[in-house]
Amino acid sequence: SPVQPPDFKKCTTPLDPGNGAPSVDCCLPVSTIITDYKIPNLPMRTRVSAHQVTPDYIAKYTEAYRRLRSLPSSDPRAYMMQANVHCAFCDNAYDENGTAVDYQVHNSWFFFPWHRWYLYFHERILASLIGDDTFALPFWNWDAPGGYTIPPMFDNPNSTLYDTKRNPLHRNPKVVDLDYSFSESNRTPQQQLQVNNSVMYRQMVTAAKTPSLFFGQSYRQGDSPGPGAGTVENTPHGTVHVWTGNPSNPNDEDMGTLYSAARDPIFFAHHGNVDRLWSIWKTLGGRRTDLTDSDYLQATFEFYDENKNLVRVKIADALQTENLRYNYQNVDIPWVRRTT
Ligand code: C2O
Repeated sequence: SPVQPPDFKKCTTPLDPGNGAPSVDCCLPVSTIITDYKIPNLPMRTRVSAHQVTPDYIAKYTEAYRRLRSLPSSDPRAYMMQANVHCAFCDNAYDENGTAVDYQVHNSWFFFPWHRWYLYFHERILASLIGDDTFALPFWNWDAPGGYTIPPMFDNPNSTLYDTKRNPLHRNPKVVDLDYSFSESNRTPQQQLQVNNSVMYRQMVTAAKTPSLFFGQSYRQGDSPGPGAGTVENTPHGTVHVWTGNPSNPNDEDMGTLYSAARDPIFFAHHGNVDRLWSIWKTLGGRRTDLTDSDYLQATFEFYDENKNLVRVKIADALQTENLRYNYQNVDIPWVRRTT
């Protein structure tokens, strides 16, 4: 049967991030009322490449983040609370309801759908803070030459989208290394692009011919957490996290480790691209289709929505982005040409 979402009343705190970093408390607010979420009748929203946004969009997005950062810390929508949602479900703050095993949304088939819903609610919260139902998150298009640096709006120290805890060597115009593992490659941008294209081709095409290779291992009630990640979750998802964080911090904070990753606003643009790759993968042919196992489709997650209500959502409702009333801007996909 499906893994049950945790009981928010039973939270383990504090967590020890390790390597001497200060302990953290990422327990989420408790609510006695949990309702089934109904997708509202929103306008269709297009998530745009973070390198192609207009000044108008940047103004809206930075204002939404300014408001998010000024909410009182106890508000379930608050900036740190949003980051703690990620921490709570990644660092064993909770057990699966009804069991004594840790709950974990990484390293299994939960990875894609849980993050899709997480971004959905984050986006809804930002939209409601600026009173604009057309607002959509951007995506960091690191798999293409048009997007392979830190998107400039996130690299501006005066912006509410900036985070000081990033690798200073990886600011613009440094090209992202999708094969990164803590050592600088010294490739030219052209060489790096070739490496990135072959990483993408391998992780999306040759090494991801079946749903379980792409989505990761099955994760059912009572299973140990994190039975195994799909191709993209490890690389490039993981490599971009680690490339963005600052290796001088104890655990490559912020982006390079789970408990702090979502404190960096760029997290949500990074995951926009990961989420986009789920949609693209399904267009690549062969056996590349969504999982059909009912323990997957019927599994539920809980999130605080833009009205501060705790709601329950189902994986089955998140398979098509259109059902959540968004899609992705069509941009060139350089690595996919190799399939033809
Ligand atoms: Cu929840 Cu990018 O990890």
